[in-house]
Parts: sequence; structure tokens; C-alpha cells
Amino acid sequence: MRIVERKLLKRQAIFTAVIGHEEVGRIWIYSVQFRGQPAWGLVKVHVQEHVQRQGIGTALYMAAAKFAKSKDAKLVSLQRIEDSASNLLWEKWEREGKATRYPKAGWAGVQDAFVLSGDLE
Ligand SMILES: CC(C)(COP(=O)(O)OP(=O)(O)OC[C@H]1O[C@@H](n2cnc3c(N)ncnc32)[C@H](O)[C@@H]1OP(=O)(O)O)[C@@H](O)C(=O)NCCC(=O)NCCS
Repeated sequence: MRIVERKLLKRQAIFTAVIGHEEVGRIWIYSVQFRGQPAWGLVKVHVQEHVQRQGIGTALYMAAAKFAKSKDAKLVSLQRIEDSASNLLWEKWEREGKATRYPKAGWAGVQDAFVLSGDLE
């Protein structure tokens, strides 16, 4: 599996996970401010069902976090679909001390925001 970086416009980036010639996953982030600091926020992350639970999602988040770090910013999640597995990833990183939760600091004050402390490495 390799991560292919693709940039869209100036303030967005997409990273694609590829196995062989097949695109198996994608993460899409955008430049945003969080609590007055520059950050990169998650728009969408997706891994094809037949290759889930193999670390591809984590690898995509790692690529996005590394990119954010290279821009002196942190990766943030301001909104997640309620029953999506991405909540489980953020909760796991929170337990491991790799992410900080900001209660109700997500969009419209409804959801919790998460901020990755580092680059996941
Ligand atoms: C969220 C998503 C990208 C995760 O991708 P993935 O490649 O399966 O994630 P990983 O293999 O890196 O999982 C890392 C950890 O997250 C947790 N996790 C991920 N999916 C899980 C699931 N379905 N159930 C329980 N734990 C889960 C586990 O702790 C897992 O570690 P483990 O496999 O060692 O137990 C993928 O589930 C997905 O595309 N879901 C559908 C789309 C979606 O919901 N996107 C988010 C909203 S835009």
C-alpha cells in the first residue's frame, strides 16, 4: 500500500491509498482555524470495506497529520457522522494520549472536537 498525495486548490489536500493499481482509501482535509490556531480539518475519510481494519485508515490519518505538521498546524476533527468508525479511531487516540477532546467545540457546538497532539508516529 502506498499513499499518493494530491492537492486540490490552495487550501485543501487529498491523500489516496493505493494497493497495486486499486484506490482503496482516501482522506480529504482543508485549512481551517481552531481556537485561533492554524489547523487542517477532516472533510472526509473512507477506506473500502474489503480492506478495512488493516491499518489503511490510520496510515491515511498519519499522512494527513504529517502534512499538517509540515505546515506548522495540527490535524483536527470538528464533525463526524455519529455511528461512523472514525469516532472509534479518535477515541482510541484519546485513550492513548495522542488526541485531545474539546467537548462541544465542533461545528455548531453540537459535537466534540478532537485535535491530534502530534503526527501519530
Ligand atoms: C473510518 C475508516 C476510514 C477506518 O479505516 P480502517 O482502515 O478500517 O481503520 P484502521 O484499520 O486503521 O483502524 C484503526 C483502529 O480503529 C478502530 N476501528 C476501526 N474500525 C473499527 C470498527 N469497525 N469497529 C471497531 N473498531 C474499529 C480499531 O481500534 C482499529 O485498530 P485495530 O484494528 O487494531 O483494532 C473506515 O472504517 C471507513 O471508511 N468507514 C466508512 C466511512 C466512514 O465512516 N468515514 C468517516 C466519516 S466521513
